[in-house]
Amino acid sequence: MLRVLVMVSGGGTNLQAIIDAVNSRQITNTEIVGVISNNRSAYALERAEHHGIPACCVSPKDYENREVFNEKLLEKVDEYDPDLIALAGFLVVIPPAMIEKYRNRIINIHPSLIPSFCGTGYYGLKVHEAALARGVKVVGATVHFVDEGTDTGPIILQKAVAVEDGDTPEVLQRRVMEQAEWIILPKAIDLIANGKVNVTDGKVSVAK
Ligand code: GAR
Repeated sequence: MLRVLVMVSGGGTNLQAIIDAVNSRQITNTEIVGVISNNRSAYALERAEHHGIPACCVSPKDYENREVFNEKLLEKVDEYDPDLIALAGFLVVIPPAMIEKYRNRIINIHPSLIPSFCGTGYYGLKVHEAALARGVKVVGATVHFVDEGTDTGPIILQKAVAVEDGDTPEVLQRRVMEQAEWIILPKAIDLIANGKVNVTDGKVSVAK
């Protein structure tokens, strides 16, 4: 069984998609061992508790500086002894020591087709605002491994979504979640849990 730790900052709809996919056996060989949030009031924490998943908050506000927070965060992550860490709307820069320790074992969902609309400053609704401002006709989501850069790690899965006339950032965000994020994040976990994902020279191959 793959031990998955999910890290969240907000509403947790992607966490919910993972929980539902484990329960419906769309994800196999996987156990969600915990949920960590940086935000005490994240609704995602309630979702975890509702499903009997151990959940906790590690907030930067509780520590004197970033270094101490980073140490505490890594300590907490280690306590769950995860095989895979899924960043599901976790809007905190991952400590370098954690990236090093969990190389190719941290995945992130990003709400665009990387390399469009990604990198520093592109998160949440801002991504969809930028896509509409540019007038692109196709958007989407990406699941990738996390490396030292922002949204630069090896890409595992991507799924495209059409922009429609009259879209607002909120409407587009919801469509990207429904048609892409909630599908490819659980799918990536299932592929990893079943040994189908390989990384060679910074590129992912997925076994049939
Ligand atoms: C999702 O749209 C996710 O792709 C995005 O935050 C949202 C979290 O929603 N992540 C990023 O922008 C990361 N750069 P959720 O809490 O309902 O899953």
